[in-house]
Amino acid sequence: MPVPVRKAIFPVGGLGTRFLPATKSMPKEMLTVVDKPLIQYAVEEARAAGIEEFIFVTGRGKTAIEDHFDHAVELQGMLTRRGKDDALELLNETIPEPGQFAYTRQLEPMGLGHAVWCARNFVGSEPVAVLLADDLILGEQGCLKQMIDAYNDVGGNMVAVMEVPNDQTSSYGIITPGEEDGRMIEVRGMVEKPDPEKAPSNYAVIGRYILQPKVFSDLARQEPGAGGEIQLTDALARQLGLQPFNGYLFEGRRFDCGNKVGFLEANIAFALDRPDMKDAVSKILNNYV
Ligand code: UTP
Repeated sequence: MPVPVRKAIFPVGGLGTRFLPATKSMPKEMLTVVDKPLIQYAVEEARAAGIEEFIFVTGRGKTAIEDHFDHAVELQGMLTRRGKDDALELLNETIPEPGQFAYTRQLEPMGLGHAVWCARNFVGSEPVAVLLADDLILGEQGCLKQMIDAYNDVGGNMVAVMEVPNDQTSSYGIITPGEEDGRMIEVRGMVEKPDPEKAPSNYAVIGRYILQPKVFSDLARQEPGAGGEIQLTDALARQLGLQPFNGYLFEGRRFDCGNKVGFLEANIAFALDRPDMKDAVSKILNNYV
C-alpha cells in the first residue's frame, strides 16, 4: 500500500483580483457560499478524507483566515450566557485541535507551484494533498475522500478531473488520457489551456491534487511557466513516466468560485441543497426566470 496521505496544503496566497473590490481587505477564500466561507468547505472536505495536518500558505491581508479557525472568546462567552447552543455548535466546528493547523506566508504571489513549494518544510518526505478552496464541489462524498480511496490502490501523483464541453478546454489544464479503469484515468500528458481543436481530450484538471514528495524537488527549480508564474502543472508534467500519474473522475458538481458567475451559481446550488432553504429559494428564483 502507498504511503498514506495525512497532510494537506491550502494555497490561499492569491490576490483574488477577479473579485475586487470585495477582496481588497478580505481574502477571496473567506467569501461565503450560503453561510460558510469557501476555505471552511475545503477544510471540512479534507477532514472527511482523513487529513490530520492542515498547512495554509497565506499572504498579506489573509489574517481573517487564521482568525476564523480560532476561538472567538467574547462571542462564545456571550452565546453561552444566552444559551444559544446551536450557534455555539457552529462555532465549535471551526476550531481545530491545537497544533493541527500551520500557517506560512508565500511573501510574493508567484503562482500556485510556488505557493505549494512554500509548504515544503511542513510536508517533509511524505505525500500531500492540495486543495484549492475556490473549486467548490457539491456531492454525496467529498472529492478528496474519493481520490484518497483510489490513491490507496495505485499511489503516485493524482489530479481530480472532470469532463468539460469542447469549447471550454481553453480555460483549463487538459490531460492526455491513457488507459481508463472505471473513474481512474492514466495521465500521459498535460497541456495548459489548449484551444478546442488542439485539446487531447476534454478531461480538465481541477483544484484537488495528491502529490508525491518528488514534486517538491522539481518545484525547487523555480522555473516560471505560463504568465511568468511558477506552475504546479509544469512540475507535475515533468514527473510523467517517473511514477504513476492518474486523473480521478470524481463524482459531484464542481463550481468555479474564483469567478463571479460560478460563485453565484454555487450559492444557488448550495442553497437549493439545503432543506431549510430549498423552498424559499426556489420561489425567489421563479420570480426571475
Ligand atoms: P487563482 O488562479 O484563482 O488566482 O488561484 P488568484 O490570485 O487567487 O485570483 P485572481 O485570478 O487574481 O482573481 C487559485 C488558487 O491558488 C492560490 C489562490 O489563493 C487560489 O486559492 N494561489 C494562487 C496562491 O496561493 N498563490 C499564488 O501565487 C497564486
